[in-house]
Amino acid sequence: MSGIYIHVPFCRKKCSYCDFHFSTSFSSYRSQMIAAISDELKERLIELSDTEPQTIYFGGGTPSILEKEELKALIQPIFDKYPQEQFLEITLEANPEDITKESLVNWKELGINRLSIGIQSFKESDLIWMNRAHTLEESRKCVDLAKKAGFSSISLDLIYGLPELTLNEWRQHIDEIISLDISHISAYCLTVEKGTLLEKKVRNKIIQIPNEDFIIEQYKLLVSKLDNVDIEQYEISNFAKKGCQSIHNSNYWSGQKFIGVGPSAHSFDGKTRRWNIANNAIYLKRSAWYEEEYLTDNERWNEYILTRLRTTKGINTEELKNLFEIDNQFLLTKEECIKQNWLIEENNCIRLTQEGQLRADYIASEFVKL
Ligand SMILES: C[S@@+](CC[C@H](N)C(=O)[O-])C[C@H]1O[C@@H](n2cnc3c(N)ncnc32)[C@H](O)[C@@H]1O
Ligand code: SF4
Repeated sequence: MSGIYIHVPFCRKKCSYCDFHFSTSFSSYRSQMIAAISDELKERLIELSDTEPQTIYFGGGTPSILEKEELKALIQPIFDKYPQEQFLEITLEANPEDITKESLVNWKELGINRLSIGIQSFKESDLIWMNRAHTLEESRKCVDLAKKAGFSSISLDLIYGLPELTLNEWRQHIDEIISLDISHISAYCLTVEKGTLLEKKVRNKIIQIPNEDFIIEQYKLLVSKLDNVDIEQYEISNFAKKGCQSIHNSNYWSGQKFIGVGPSAHSFDGKTRRWNIANNAIYLKRSAWYEEEYLTDNERWNEYILTRLRTTKGINTEELKNLFEIDNQFLLTKEECIKQNWLIEENNCIRLTQEGQLRADYIASEFVKL
């Protein structure tokens, strides 16, 4: 099992909260970039020769900006090497403004069978301060269009902890997402990322972020309301109907091999980590355009703990013992976290309780080996 991630570094607008890698002024080198990513893919598929890739994930940036022929240039090298039927899941991150009857037909024809749509909020004024390129009406329409075009695997992205979002509004957002009857939801807590317009506005007190207790209340409401309608949490930010968990992301969290192509994309093969440079011009020149690092034992341990801890399956302690030497520090940290009701240990697994999920980054940092 393995996966292929393709990063498309273009966006129509710069969302005020986002620090992912993208450019909004790419028309002069658009075709060059597609050719370069396609070339990287052709060169690097060999790295997967000891595995059977099962998933393709177009992320970004905004891959739904691309024309059919551009997407084809990125997917065809994969189908030239592997039969299309081998791929259980081919996801495209799609922004609501790009979802039309025509684009949906094109995506289907290319073999895309899963859409991850960035809704973010069901409040028009949020979409404005976020500088999103779509209206609320487009967000509402696109899910229906996608279903009518035959997409049964649809995931929607939402953000909570938004400034001025009341608990009642958040409840309505959750109800609206439930009423859309889709199979998967990713809900992220708003993070104020360095260098974003949001950060500047928070610093200058133009925008105020809600306090932690209120954010926790929103998170708990989300988990319980989704649970009531059998949309199960399987990772801190990810929820799915039975059998509809993202295969690509689940493989990533269980440490499977993947290659990532395109500027800023990461790759991992169990032993080595690679980062492509998050700079379009340098990526195109192909000189000093990636870094690679052979993981030390401590880094392998950290990678293992960090990816698994966020999932509801948690860490399998038998597997952990087989792969690593368990030291006293780990046992002490584990016992302390269990005492605090942050971790639970059962059936050879340790996993976060809901209280633990609210402090996942802190708990993970306690297990990290430097
Ligand atoms: C890299 S974005 C790409 C998706 C697509 N371009 C879009 O905007 O819908 C993936 C998701 O990360 C989430 N995200 C990005 N920045 C975030 C932030 N600062 N805080 C919380 N969630 C964020 C958004 O929900 C977004 O849909
Ligand atoms: S949230 Fe999506 S559309 Fe907005 S800037 Fe980030 S990647 Fe681009």
